[in-house]
Amino acid sequence: MTQVANGHGANGHAAASAAKPRRVEAIRVEPPTTPAPVDGEEQRPTGPTFHLNPANASYIIRVTADGDLDHVHWGARTRNAHTSPDGGRDSWGPVRTRREFPDAGHGDFRQPAYRISHAGTAITDLRYKGYDIVSGKPPLSGLPATFGADDAVSTLEIHLEDELAGIKATLSYGVFHHLPVVTRSVRLTAGAEGAVVDELASLSIDFPVGDYEMLYTYGQWARENQVVRRKVDHGIQGFQSLAGYTSAAHNPFFALVNPTTTESLGQAWGFSLVYTGSFAAQVEVAAKGYARASLGLNPAHLSWALGPGESFTSPEVVCVYSGSGVGGMSRAFHNLYRQHLSRSDWTHRTRPTLINNWEATYFDLSQDVLLPIAERAAGLGIKMFVMDDGWFGVKHPRVNDHQGLGDWTPNPLRFPDGLDTFANRVTDLKVKPLPGDNDTAVAGATHMQFGIWVEPEMVNPKSELYENHPDWVLHSGKYPHTTARNQLVLNVGLPEVQDYIVDVVSKLLSSSNISYVKWDNNRGMHELQHPSDSHRYILGLYSVLDRLTTAFPDVLWEGCASGGARFDPGLLYYWPQHWVSDNTDARDRVSIQLGLSLVYPPSTFGCHVSAVPNHITDRKTPLEFRAHVAMLGGSFGLELDATKLSDDDAKQLPAILALSEKVNPYIIHGDMYRLSPWESTSPAVLYVLPSGDAVLFAFQLKDAHFPDQPEPIRLQGLDKDAEYEFDGEVYGGDELSTAGWNWWKEGDYQSRVVFVNKVK
Ligand code: GLA
Repeated sequence: MTQVANGHGANGHAAASAAKPRRVEAIRVEPPTTPAPVDGEEQRPTGPTFHLNPANASYIIRVTADGDLDHVHWGARTRNAHTSPDGGRDSWGPVRTRREFPDAGHGDFRQPAYRISHAGTAITDLRYKGYDIVSGKPPLSGLPATFGADDAVSTLEIHLEDELAGIKATLSYGVFHHLPVVTRSVRLTAGAEGAVVDELASLSIDFPVGDYEMLYTYGQWARENQVVRRKVDHGIQGFQSLAGYTSAAHNPFFALVNPTTTESLGQAWGFSLVYTGSFAAQVEVAAKGYARASLGLNPAHLSWALGPGESFTSPEVVCVYSGSGVGGMSRAFHNLYRQHLSRSDWTHRTRPTLINNWEATYFDLSQDVLLPIAERAAGLGIKMFVMDDGWFGVKHPRVNDHQGLGDWTPNPLRFPDGLDTFANRVTDLKVKPLPGDNDTAVAGATHMQFGIWVEPEMVNPKSELYENHPDWVLHSGKYPHTTARNQLVLNVGLPEVQDYIVDVVSKLLSSSNISYVKWDNNRGMHELQHPSDSHRYILGLYSVLDRLTTAFPDVLWEGCASGGARFDPGLLYYWPQHWVSDNTDARDRVSIQLGLSLVYPPSTFGCHVSAVPNHITDRKTPLEFRAHVAMLGGSFGLELDATKLSDDDAKQLPAILALSEKVNPYIIHGDMYRLSPWESTSPAVLYVLPSGDAVLFAFQLKDAHFPDQPEPIRLQGLDKDAEYEFDGEVYGGDELSTAGWNWWKEGDYQSRVVFVNKVK
């Protein structure tokens, strides 16, 4: 990273140099201007204007004559924005302007971006001081964040200061050169008297007057990521997490769209918070009809105290602009998160097929129960066996969810020969080659790999860990602990708890031949002694994950939280994948996975085929349909008892596994196009590789030929001038994109996977 330009002025806003060379085209600084006199009255000069130019988009901020920041534009690329936003400020002060980093207390009566208490007041007066431009992107202290090389991203830092309090703020803007992305975060530094950060949003943007809709997801356990699209109206509309984690209730993401925006047409502004803790998201339409969009830390879990000169950094928010509909927004997020967020080597590698025993055995497991499942799975051609919950606990064996959590020693009654021996028995198993195995590039050797489940942030009161360290759990004075699933949350904000987790997981990984870890987290936080304990915990968790993933870079880490309750960009920085949902019913999974794909690349989805009737919904669907739905995600597996397969299923599985390996590179590396409306009963998805080859997934949830046939599937992302081999024939890219392809089959829960090979 190199500093390439700066402007610092004694009077706070006049010195951003006109002479600064435009060396970083992605960021352009226009010099201060003096507006023409109004009614013969001279106008004061404004400060500089910052033009951020990520690919195909512009983000423009202007420093006002008072040293405040106006938000001028975020959207389609424009070279200039000469006029002040909507006519600019008037005698009513900031309440009628579009601001970039709004305070509270000086007459703006909308949601502020920050509130800081200090020296007996809650008023601050942060004004522009100067800026720096650096190539590349400096990391955020202690927080996960997007990254990129000097030729991929440039960063603008705008410096503000409250001269009365000595409080400083730096607003950082990462501008991606090849993606329509600007990232934002804020660093606050206290003055000589210290301060308390009561509120600090990562995002605050005042959109111009317009018709907007808000797109986001809601859910609960086993029903994650249901898509909502609602009108943005006067007043406040929003959602939050107060669980201490991101939670299944909402994802830390929303988009603003116009009512006319569709999957492939129109404007979409997406915002995604790179954070794993409590958050708040809202849009407020107030004075003049401007829409203030905010996203960031939940103020109810903040109140962060700073000593003199200490700093606090907000998590990063990613802002995506799409002029090509909701789909264009999703693909920008997918590319950003694959190339510039998820730092594991596995992010760019195809994943081994696996079998997990949870739905097969639940807590009823032992080496004698599991080895036959692993043997049968290896005989089918599955590359990895994952042992789920129930393998540990000596004094309080984990035979159900009432005890043992926290004691990560193998249960000697269940594993009398030790974990290492059991793991070796699994890894000694030879994996049977699949039909056409030579053609696949899937990772994994001829021997089976071994993976394991842990939930290291939690403890059962009935455990040796709790007996020895009752003070390590979240607690508040004499108030009793609130249990959920019979467990308590360790206070990961404590350094001794962080060291314990790093130590115990490191020893486990060093003790046996373990290639994969499923890291679970099955409840929300309780009894926070202080609101800031929640954020301190998340910082502690990030430190733990940093240490562990650095020490064990080859391990394939998968996040899990009662399914998808912590599917967030913060964890994807450390881990390449996350379990999507405990609901493995393929019918429900279609909407859960498509909802998740609004923001997250399908390469990060853990998706398994389970037995029927489904353990949660009792629904029966064909094996092929279940498998095709699971293949939409990057980590494909089975979650059933392989020793109890019907003959018919056992016969089908080798071909299904071979297909999953054949499509896996498309999922890991391809661009995803959702080809159908959210509510469609004939959903279809296309993945297009950089080479131009593609694979189409078409589903029929309901027998579709009565009363009407489904709409033709119109492919996107193809070269219209090229020819493609498709379903045994040659089609033009134009035909597949415009006339489309008609497909239906009799019966519910039908599916097809069709390769779309570009004719060279
Ligand atoms: C959570 C996970 C499941 C399974 C169980 C084990 O519910 O989401 O996949 O691992 O815990 O207790």
